Amino acid sequence: MQVVQSPQALREAVAQLRQKGKVAFVPTMGNLHDGHLQLISAALEQADAVVASIFVNPMQFGQGEDFEKYPRTHQQDIDKLTAAGCDLLFLPEVKTIYPVPMEQHTKVEVPGISNILCGESRPGHFVGVATIVCKLFNLVMPDLAVFGEKDFQQLMVIRLMVRDLCMPLDIVGVPIVREVDGLAMSSRNGYLNQAQRASASMLYKQLQHLAEQVKQPGVDFSRLEQQFTDEMNNNGFETDYIAIRRQQDLQHPQSSDNQLVILAAAKLGNTRLIDNLLVNI
Ligand code: PAF
Repeated sequence: MQVVQSPQALREAVAQLRQKGKVAFVPTMGNLHDGHLQLISAALEQADAVVASIFVNPMQFGQGEDFEKYPRTHQQDIDKLTAAGCDLLFLPEVKTIYPVPMEQHTKVEVPGISNILCGESRPGHFVGVATIVCKLFNLVMPDLAVFGEKDFQQLMVIRLMVRDLCMPLDIVGVPIVREVDGLAMSSRNGYLNQAQRASASMLYKQLQHLAEQVKQPGVDFSRLEQQFTDEMNNNGFETDYIAIRRQQDLQHPQSSDNQLVILAAAKLGNTRLIDNLLVNI
């Protein structure tokens, strides 16, 4: 696998890869786990060459969030990507991506969806995500890009950005990869201490219980959301939200909607975990 740091070297290397055929792109922030490697596998299935990026994007972190302590494990990541069959890794420095101060930098905003759920608790987060993903798409110019469905709202923001800005690529979502006890894989799981790690699996178990309740006829969704939030909070979580929404646009469901998603974000200590579960009634 070739590793490049500059946009110029990236463009030259991608031009070479394009001779093989379709190019898939997997953007990441590194500290790769099996969930990321699943994205590389999906990319390899759908394209002839795979480009990954590792960039911890300061624009998507709020004040007091974990930008500084976000794990940077480049050599391990390079080894994993190489073993997974990735062709090219873009590993830029912050000053390469943001040569001007953040407040002077052009930003991409997908309105509405960016300000609910995770966007409400992390103001500016999805502007940071859309901006970096847009820049990376412009640098790599892939035929398709692959994202995990754990970040369900992020995936929707990216799909809408691609639609609205007429970006010529396909977006592919890959199902969540879970640990044996059901916890969704995430680089942030590494922040959990032993006791927190043992409690963390409750998040997915609650989503599964809630999914069963949601299927009952005539049930009151907001009462269920409150009940499950209280249960989480009584078990050591600080719940940001548990929300039953429509899959297609993350709005509150009408009684005729039958494709739903339950989304949750909750803190255990200082670690913010997110997860979701699709429910088709
Ligand atoms: O999901 C992530 O790892 C990041 O939000 C992404 C898409 C790489 C943008 O920084």
